[in-house]
Amino acid sequence: MSERGSGFVPGLEGVVAAETRLSHVDGEAGELVVTGFPVEELARRATFEEVLYLLWHDALPNAGELADLREALSQRRPLPGATLDLLRAAASEGAPPMDALRMATGTVSLGTQGTSPDTDAAYEDALAVVARFPTIVAAYKRLLDGEEPVAPDPRLGHAANYLYMLNGEVPGEGSVRALETYLNTVADHGLNASTFAARVIVSTRSDLVSAVVGALGALKGPLHGGAPGPALDVVFEIGEAHRAEAVLCEKLGRGERLMGFGHRVYKVRDPRADVLATAAELLYASDGDEALYELALEVERTAVALLAEYKPGRGLQTNVEFYTALLLHGLGLSTELFTPTFAVGRVAGWTAHCFEQLERGRLIRPQSEYVGERDREWVPMGDR
Ligand code: ACO
Repeated sequence: MSERGSGFVPGLEGVVAAETRLSHVDGEAGELVVTGFPVEELARRATFEEVLYLLWHDALPNAGELADLREALSQRRPLPGATLDLLRAAASEGAPPMDALRMATGTVSLGTQGTSPDTDAAYEDALAVVARFPTIVAAYKRLLDGEEPVAPDPRLGHAANYLYMLNGEVPGEGSVRALETYLNTVADHGLNASTFAARVIVSTRSDLVSAVVGALGALKGPLHGGAPGPALDVVFEIGEAHRAEAVLCEKLGRGERLMGFGHRVYKVRDPRADVLATAAELLYASDGDEALYELALEVERTAVALLAEYKPGRGLQTNVEFYTALLLHGLGLSTELFTPTFAVGRVAGWTAHCFEQLERGRLIRPQSEYVGERDREWVPMGDR
């Protein structure tokens, strides 16, 4: 069939490209439903492992099923020597953590067929990538800082292990709950760019590790998962509430985008921003810097007001990244870890979408509209 070139929608905005039972984003109402639950409920009540099970199996696990999943993740959490060698090499070159995570994720294919799209192989790959993401990120951060990686503790859950492997200390309950809230909140979010990338790759019957590597590449960009670091930088740059308007006006005047604001689907406040703002408030009230939280609130208020003034009618509101930055900073994570930590949560959704695509999906192969020339005359080299 020829490319028909009709109905081109820039950025595929509003185009429905998959059916999913995993999550639903209502951009007008500002609602996010994940496997039938409002995101607020999962954020508050579930462990990360429960959300993972829900996404993979469309049911809440009973005690035995949850214990089995925790054990399966625990077994796969330690890094093979080849992965550690690669991370050491990347650290010696000072590679950014997202690049190190991408490279190290590729090593999950070592010792497997790496090409099989069958369900058992895909499930094994999914367990390995989900289990190893926190280990890779934490080990790499320590190597970058000139420290030795800390091995995972089999007694700790997924979120607690991540903080433990980063800091070498068993984290407090408040910190674990805050991280778990974050991971659950970002675990899945409709057909976002990285999830779409994963589905496209697996739709070719390629392997799940390749799909996750592709998704990491999409997540890294500043218009997707790369925004929280810059969002926090702006809060620090502002420093004091009374400077917010002047600094933000200057940025908007230069035509810059304010990181942490605006969304392709949400035209009202991103519901995840509320969940994370509440979690950040709790965290900062218990052991953090309440002044920073107050400053962030003021920056948010000012940014939303200025965006309405500079870009009227665009519905630019706070997105998930703004309070992600604040929450992860409150947990002691450096800005370079924000996007990899997003990946630690979102890999749950990526893998679930891969299963769904493998079960029901067709090869994803859209069309393009040709806008180039026709009937050009070939010019020999000597005449060009
Ligand atoms: N600051 C200033 N202006 C903005 C912003 C922003 N944050 N976001 C959009 N705009 C403006 C655009 O300049 C454009 O203006 P114009 O109509 O005068 O040309 C208008 O609003 C529409 O913008 P688009 O780029 O067409 O909207 P799109 O749906 O493609 O963008 C996006 C969504 C990429 C998230 C955008 O809002 C943005 O760049 N935000 C900042 C980066 C960010 O926070 N990313 C994280 C998103 S959440 C996530 O992926 C997890």
